[in-house]
Order: sequence, then structure tokens, then C-alpha cells
Amino acid sequence: MNTLRLGLAGFGTVGSGLAQILHENREGILARTGRDIAITTVLVRDLTKKRAVATGPEMRFTANPDDLLGPDVDVVVELMGGVGLARELITRALNAGKHVVTANKHLLALHGPELSALAAKKGLGLFYEASVAGGVPIVQTLRESLGANRIERLTGIMNGTANYILSEMTTNHLEFDVALKQAQELGYAEADPTFDIEGFDTAHKLVVLIRLAYGRDFPLSKLPVRGITQVTGSDIEFAREFGYRIKLLAQAREVDGKIVASVEPTLVNHKFLLARVGGNYNAVRVEGNAVGPIMLHGQGAGSLPTGSAVMADVMALCRGLAIPSAHFDNTGFGNKPLPEADILPSSECVSMHYFRFSVADRPGVLAAIAKTMAEHGISIAQAVQKGEHKAPEVPIVFLTHEAKASAAAETVRAIDALPFAVRPTVHFPIL
Ligand code: NAP
Ligand code: HSE
Repeated sequence: MNTLRLGLAGFGTVGSGLAQILHENREGILARTGRDIAITTVLVRDLTKKRAVATGPEMRFTANPDDLLGPDVDVVVELMGGVGLARELITRALNAGKHVVTANKHLLALHGPELSALAAKKGLGLFYEASVAGGVPIVQTLRESLGANRIERLTGIMNGTANYILSEMTTNHLEFDVALKQAQELGYAEADPTFDIEGFDTAHKLVVLIRLAYGRDFPLSKLPVRGITQVTGSDIEFAREFGYRIKLLAQAREVDGKIVASVEPTLVNHKFLLARVGGNYNAVRVEGNAVGPIMLHGQGAGSLPTGSAVMADVMALCRGLAIPSAHFDNTGFGNKPLPEADILPSSECVSMHYFRFSVADRPGVLAAIAKTMAEHGISIAQAVQKGEHKAPEVPIVFLTHEAKASAAAETVRAIDALPFAVRPTVHFPIL
């Protein structure tokens, strides 16, 4: 059979990882797919840049996107990121009859349904395993392996950069900015790391997973998202004293036909597997009504782990193409348009809560906080106050019993308006 020819858009962290895997594992890949795979064309911005892996004369580098649409490319592999140009390129590639593999969760979160519809109309494959949780095969798992289940709950650590930062702050007491710089140097972060630390990248991935798990489209603009920039070393220490780790969690659940979903820093009991997911590792826990709970764990970012997921898509495509009149179900729901999800507001969710109040250290403050919490129906489970004698402010930390997220938010608003509040309260839910 003739060679399957890949045109790569992007040869950065992921693109070079893919090339390295193809180079090093070529024989094994051929043994599984029965068809040789080669990278023929590579689109980059800067043709003069020195590349991290050997490129070879068979790979033609270009700065012209049109070169990916010519007859020497069968599959366009989009690994450049961003939305505008990537959307245009994938649309043009599908219209030109090319199958597409992408790792671009931002693009998929915003325009996935439109691109899936175009791919379906053209009878082409649109593959995106690497878009969620890097090397962890959660897309294939939800689309295929768990297809017989009603998914009751999805809980994930799905951003390697944020998890690396929190882990380094917890284990090695690194400053936030130092840990972020390391994550960038290791190739984990997005071109604009705001996406990682503000939770947006996790949100993009959660929207993609909700489609696969529930067959419904949860608009990105309706997903409540909080990142990790509010998390301080002292929150990590307080949480640890109470037996918890702080993780950036993505959560989705179906309640009476409605979907409730959120992305926010969350305290996780240190005995839970999710609490032990460290560094650039990701984990997604899925509860299916038949299979029960399962958890996938692995590197969620980085050159080779992500390249591995992209290569798996290329191989799946290769196998599909070997079947006469192959049909590509890109959504897991027969390529039918997905209805918009009925949304249950996350303010309705009930959980325990962590509050860190920064207040003036004077008589009656603790009593006033406890009274305000009681007025909002929030019952205190544990409390700790630490501070230097006569310091201008002290942190008071409470862990509560279960209460609605809306009650917790109202409590924060009420206490922050009191005269002894020195700075805004930090509040996270507890898993
Ligand atoms: P990267 O290291 O910044 O590489 C981006 C590549 O795209 C570079 O080769 C760049 O060319 C090229 N490029 C960017 N804009 C371009 C343009 N306008 N025209 C032509 N070429 C352009 O990015 P990455 O980390 O590999 O990420 C790529 C994609 O994978 C993103 O969607 C990202 O979200 C996703 N992803 C990344 C990871 C990860 O661990 N890094 C994991 C999962 C998914 P030059 O080399 O000339 O600059
Ligand atoms: N920036 C992303 C992360 C890359 O840190 O998880 C993987 O999607």
C-alpha cells in the first residue's frame, strides 16, 4: 500500500515530538498499520529556526499554508495552536479532501461542531486525541471504550502546567512565577500561559469531553472558570494541615437531564488518587453507570507524550482507511449535530468549603465571621487562626460542612464588606 503522507502545520513542542516518534518507532508503527507513514511537508513561521529534532531531506519546510493542501499531503496535522489561522487551515484542508488530526482544544471548544459537521459532510476523519490531557487516551476511551455507559460524573486534572505549578509549590515550596517559568521551559505551557493558569485551557478540554461523554454541546461562554492565580503558598500549607491538596479540577455531572460543570481550584483529600497526581501528569476519573469508576493517569503535556497521542490518531486514521468505504464517526454520536446542553448552574452544587479570611486581629472578629456564616446557613467544621502578635492582619481559615456554592459566595461577599476585612477572602470548594 502506498505511504500515508502527513502535512504538519507546526513543528514546535508537539510537532517535533511526533516526528521523533515516527522516526524512532517507524517499524513498530508499520507493523500495526500495515502502511508506511511519512511527513512530507511542514508549515512553520520561521524557516531559519534551528529544529529540536533531525528533519531530513524528505520533509519540505514551508511558510506557505497552501503547500499543505497540495497532492503530496493526505492528512493535515494541525499542531500550531491559535484559533483564526488554524480554523481557516482545517476548513480549507477538509474542503480539499484531506483528513485532519489536531491537538488544538481551544479551536475545538469554540468551533468543534462546525468542523465536525464539515468533516462529516465530506466523509473525512477529524481526530483530536491529543487535544485533551496530552498522552492520556481519554478521547478514545469516552468515544469507544465507555460508549455503552451513561456517564454519571467526570472529574479531571487536565492542565499539566497548572498541575506542575501547584505540585512544585506544594512539594518544593517554589514561588508561583518560578514554577511557571520551569513549566514553560519544559514545553508544557501554551504560547500564552494565561490560558493555563487562568483555567481557560482546562475549560476548553472540559467542553470537548462533555461532548464526548454526554453528546451535548456545553457552550464555553457558559462554563464557570477560575484558575490558580489566587492560590498562595499559605493556602497550600493550610490545606495540607487539614489533610488536603489543592488541585485545578474540571468537573461535569448529569443531574436530572441537566449538565452541571465547572473549572476551579479545589481541595482534594490527600488519600484520593487525584490528590497524588503530580507534576505535568493529568488524570481523568470517569464514573459510568455500568463500568463504575475508572481513572486514566499519565503525562498531560510535553513533546513525546502529546506526540504519542497525535500518532495514535494518525494510526487510527490509517486503519480506518484500510477498510473499504470507511466511515469516520468523529463525535461518537454518528456525526449527528449535538444539541445544546440544558445547564444546571454550578451555584446549586453542594460541597464542603475552604475559606481563608484576611482580617484585622481584634476582639469580636472571629465571632462576627461565625455569625455571618451561620446567617447564610454555613456550618463550621474546623477552624484555625495563625498570625504574629499585633500584626495588621491575620489569616483565619475555616473548613465547613456541606453547603450550596451560592451560600458560600454570598458569605464571602458579606464578610468582605465588613470593616475588619483587610483583603478579599479566598474560597475554594472541597471535593
Ligand atoms: P509550539 O511549541 O509553540 O509550536 C507551534 C508551532 O507552530 C511552531 O513550529 C510554529 O512555527 C508554528 N506556527 C505557529 N503559528 C504559526 C503560523 N501563524 N504560521 C505558521 N506556523 C505557525 O506549540 P506546541 O506546544 O507544540 O502546541 C501546538 C498545539 O498543540 C497547540 O494547539 C497546543 O494547545 C496543543 N497542545 C500542546 C501540548 C504541549 O504539551 N505543548 C499538549 C497538548 C496539546 P515556528 O517553529 O517557526 O515558530
Ligand atoms: N498547556 C497544556 C497543559 C498543554 O499544560 O496541559 C497540554 O494540553
